[in-house]
Amino acid sequence: MNTRVEWVRDNCRLLKGIAEEFSASRPFEGLTIGTGIHLEPKTVALLLTLKEGGARVVSTGNLNSTQQTAVDHLRTHGVEVIGGPTRDPEEHRANLVQVLEARPQLILDNGGDLFTLYLERPYDGLLGGTEETTSGRMRLEPLRAQLRVPILVINDSPIKQFAENEHAVGQSVLESYMRVTNRVTNGQRVTVFGYGSCGRGVAENFKGAHAQVSVAEVDPVKRLNAHLDGYATPHRDEAIAGADLIVTVTGGERILRGSDLALLKDGVILANAGHFPVEIDVPDLRAHASVTATTQYEDGVESLHLDDGRTVHLVTEGHMFNLAGPRPLGNSIESMDLGFALQARCLQAVAADPTMADACVVPVPVDIDNRVANAYLDLHYSAPLPAGSR
Ligand SMILES: NC(=O)c1ccc[n+]([C@@H]2O[C@H](COP(=O)([O-])OP(=O)(O)OC[C@H]3O[C@@H](n4cnc5c(N)ncnc54)[C@H](O)[C@@H]3O)[C@@H](O)[C@H]2O)c1
Repeated sequence: MNTRVEWVRDNCRLLKGIAEEFSASRPFEGLTIGTGIHLEPKTVALLLTLKEGGARVVSTGNLNSTQQTAVDHLRTHGVEVIGGPTRDPEEHRANLVQVLEARPQLILDNGGDLFTLYLERPYDGLLGGTEETTSGRMRLEPLRAQLRVPILVINDSPIKQFAENEHAVGQSVLESYMRVTNRVTNGQRVTVFGYGSCGRGVAENFKGAHAQVSVAEVDPVKRLNAHLDGYATPHRDEAIAGADLIVTVTGGERILRGSDLALLKDGVILANAGHFPVEIDVPDLRAHASVTATTQYEDGVESLHLDDGRTVHLVTEGHMFNLAGPRPLGNSIESMDLGFALQARCLQAVAADPTMADACVVPVPVDIDNRVANAYLDLHYSAPLPAGSR
């Protein structure tokens, strides 16, 4: 029987087409690409596409999202994978260092881990690369003057914003919530922290699942946007106090912390969908004086029992729960196929022209967005009608 990795590869139709093209044109011949991105089936399809283009690919995962089946598949297909699944930040850092020891000319980063480490231990020959996500862009923007190589930010393509962050993250967060907790959404009071593109999708999906959704947002313009989209936009303390479920998806730190325990409703579930496991300060919550005991359940749920009898539940220890929970599926195949087609085309562009002026931490070039959008529409929408149909 074929595996899920093979199902995903077969359905990454944009990447399949690009891999075929790359196997003839070999845009990465003689180059090493170092990657630090979630190792799960969709990234397998991306990394093997880069390999088809002639690259030596040296990879490690992100913290707490690596899937062993993905690692095994990559290794049997000639990708060098450093380490395996880990929750240990020190082990993760050592894996990243090993990727950089291969002195990759191109870096594919997710969260800015590899580029920031490169600045601590620079080497000759780095041409540039890509950064996948919002949190990485926020980390790398202040380092432009030191990095001084083209780094194209996939997140800042409008395609990634609407196809993945808004639609796909919203769907997969809802799907993950139901799979991990098996709890009802109808009539539940859900607070979403952050109304960026991910938060919009999360709010919309829970609204569609008949929850009463509130949005807590620090940016007044985004807050107005949420209000006009029909959500309650209370002050954060009020939004915390009434909630049955709180989802953080801000890219910030310590959005929820120990001092918030006093506000939380009995039975509330706390879940993070932001990239780094710092939006919910789990160590601070666990160490708070009001916590008298904890219970661990399988599938990544932990309950904190408080001295006044209330219980607060944490999902996947504050790690990005749509990729860190049990049997994680992550975002839909098609949304990631789009984003990873952007990745492949951007790395191809940097390899072809590493002197790109003023391209350090900038959005995907418009011609690449247009090319990927047209390719997707050709495959999924404009397919000719079968013969005989009208
Ligand atoms: N789970 C996934 O599969 C997935 C996929 C893509 C991106 N992400 C991650 O999700 C996070 C959000 O991404 P985005 O693209 O929506 O970012 P964004 O920058 O578009 O939106 C984040 C929003 O959070 C708000 N915010 C910041 N601090 C806040 C606070 N203390 N309280 C309330 N609101 C606050 C900001 O004002 C902003 O509007 C990032 O960490 C990103 O890397 C996760």
